[in-house]
Order: sequence, then structure tokens, then C-alpha cells
Amino acid sequence: MKRRIGILTAGGDCPGLNATIRGISKALYQRFGSSVEIIGIMNGYSGLIHNDYKEMQPEDFKGILTLGGTILGTKRTPFKQICRNEPDASANIAAMKQTYRNANLDCLLCLGGNGSHKTANLLSQEGLNIIGLPKTIDNDIHGTDVSFGFHTAVDIATDVIDRIHTTAGSHSRVMCIEIMGNKAGWLTLYSGIAGGADIILIPEKPYDIDRVCAAVENRAANGSNFSIVAVAEGALDVTEATMKRKEWKAKRLEAGTGSTATTRIAAQIQKNTGAETRVCIPGHMQRGGSPSAYDRLLATQFGSYAAKLIEEERYGVTVAMVNNHVTENRLQDIAGKPRCIPADHELLAVAHRMGIALG
Ligand code: F6P
Repeated sequence: MKRRIGILTAGGDCPGLNATIRGISKALYQRFGSSVEIIGIMNGYSGLIHNDYKEMQPEDFKGILTLGGTILGTKRTPFKQICRNEPDASANIAAMKQTYRNANLDCLLCLGGNGSHKTANLLSQEGLNIIGLPKTIDNDIHGTDVSFGFHTAVDIATDVIDRIHTTAGSHSRVMCIEIMGNKAGWLTLYSGIAGGADIILIPEKPYDIDRVCAAVENRAANGSNFSIVAVAEGALDVTEATMKRKEWKAKRLEAGTGSTATTRIAAQIQKNTGAETRVCIPGHMQRGGSPSAYDRLLATQFGSYAAKLIEEERYGVTVAMVNNHVTENRLQDIAGKPRCIPADHELLAVAHRMGIALG
């Protein structure tokens, strides 16, 4: 019996996508030999909508364990955009189902983040055989302790903080480093602690600029000539936290300090404390390059587990790591649920004990 397995990578890329694709394909070839055919859907759900796919060969998966990005390409095709209005929503769903049939798939593996899991769940509810795999540097997918890509990004962001330390110390400056993560502060909290940041600002804990400035002044009073502030892309101050997203976005636009809080925080620190302040935004560097050993291992664990699910014909699920154990969740149970840092997370307590200001 021939098995035809589709794979797509959706949303923002991250290190470990190719390692996961390799894990899936290698385990499938190992189990089914030449009776398995793998079909690459190009550029995520966009390829599924536009019937853009190609038959992959075993050679396509060789040498990609360490390769950053994704050999299948990706595109942001948000769930909202796919399902925004009728008749487009129905047309998009019909087109995705048609591509699945055109490619004669037995199942489709969707490697994606939070939003991509919503579309995966939708396709599953539409009757397709879907398996999800959790990827994102944001680590914000419900039901899994970790997603691949996250730990590589932690390593990169930590390296940035390390490097900023020496220049901050030489110039006696306050350095505000903007770390990726819009709704969840996992990457900022992990790299902030690992890099020895003095102040860590995350979306889950709105900051008060007076407390941030007090922390800088306190360090100066205790003899430190510099401070490192790790700011999550999605950090909000206490006033913004009471507003609707649209409102605070409009206010920032009007103020002309950028779409994130980092530049404003730096300006406020400089004005209120007199300390010379600079901003560093490593941006997409955090998503680039080769996956770390941890992520290669995780990607291989997740990929080979997905192959096992295919063998057992268990669909409508997504692979997960729970308490160091690879398992799966039902797509319908996790899709669309954010995973933010809970107020009682042990790393927040660690930060508190270490005297790191959390805004
Ligand atoms: O994929 C996650 C992420 O890197 C977020 O941390 C960040 O907010 C966003 O993607 C950036 O998106 P884009 O690559 O579309 O600019």
C-alpha cells in the first residue's frame, strides 16, 4: 500500500524546521521504505490554497539537519486572513481541500505556531487527516512545554546580551535590548536570566517606568556603571495594559517612538536618570541560522513521533513535550489558546530572588 504524506511549514520560520522535516522523512523511509511518498507543500497554507506542491525525493532530505530556515518555504497566511469573510473563507477552505485531494494525500503534517495550529484544527474539522508539530521561537503553544526553535533563539538572544554587557560596561551606559515575543515573554525571561540582565520587561507583567528608572538608579548607587534592560517586543506599561490593543498602538504611532516600547523606555530612562542609554534590536537574527543541539534533538524526537502517529493512523493531533515525555494533544483542545508565562512560574521567582527588576 502506497502512503502519500504531505508536509508544510507555516508562519514565521525558526531553527529546527528542516531538522524536523528530516526527522519525519527519515523515520517514514525507515518504516515504510519506498512505499512512502512525501509531498512538500510550498510556502505554508499559501501553497495549500494555491495548489503549489512538489513530489520530494529521499535526497531532498539529506544534509538538512543543521540547515536554518525551511526547505519548503513559508509565508504568513494568518487564520484570520484565510477565514476573514465569506465567500473568500469558503473558497480558501475548498481550495485547501482540493489541493489535498489533487496531491492524493493520506495525511498532512503542519509544522507551525499558534495561528497555524488554528488552521490545522480547521482542516482537521473539515475531515482531512492532520498532524501538527509545534514550532516557534516564542514558545507560546498551548499544551507543550517547549516548541522547537525556542532554545536556539534563547542561545542567540543570550549571546546578544553577553556581547552588549562589554560595550555597556566600557561606555557606562544603560542598554535596552529588544527580544522577540509579542504576546509571550518566554524568550525574554529565559535569555534575560541566562544573560544576566538587570531588568526584564515582559508582556505578562506590565511595567511602571518609575520602577524601571529606580532599578537603574539603585544599581548606580551600588556602584554599577551600567545596566542591561531586556525588553520583550510585546512589553506594555501599566497604562497601556488597561487599554485596547488598537488604542495603545494608535498612541504609539502618534508619539512616533516606534511600534514597540523599547525606544520609548530608553528615552525615558535617559531623561529620568541622566544615564546615557542606547537601544539594540537583534530582530530576525534570533530566528536565523543553524538549530542548537537541543533543538536538533527535539526536532528529531518530534519528527520521528509524527511518523509513529502516521503509522498508527492517529490524526487530529499535534505533537507535544510534557514533563520531558513526547506525547500528543488533540488539535481541538489546544488550537487558539495562548500560552503565556503564569504569575507563579518558577523563573519569575528566580528573577525575584536574584534582584532582577521585573518592572
Ligand atoms: O515567529 C515568531 C516571531 O518571531 C515573533 O517573535 C515576532 O513578533 C514575529 O514572529 C515577527 O514576525 P515577522 O517575521 O512576520 O516579522
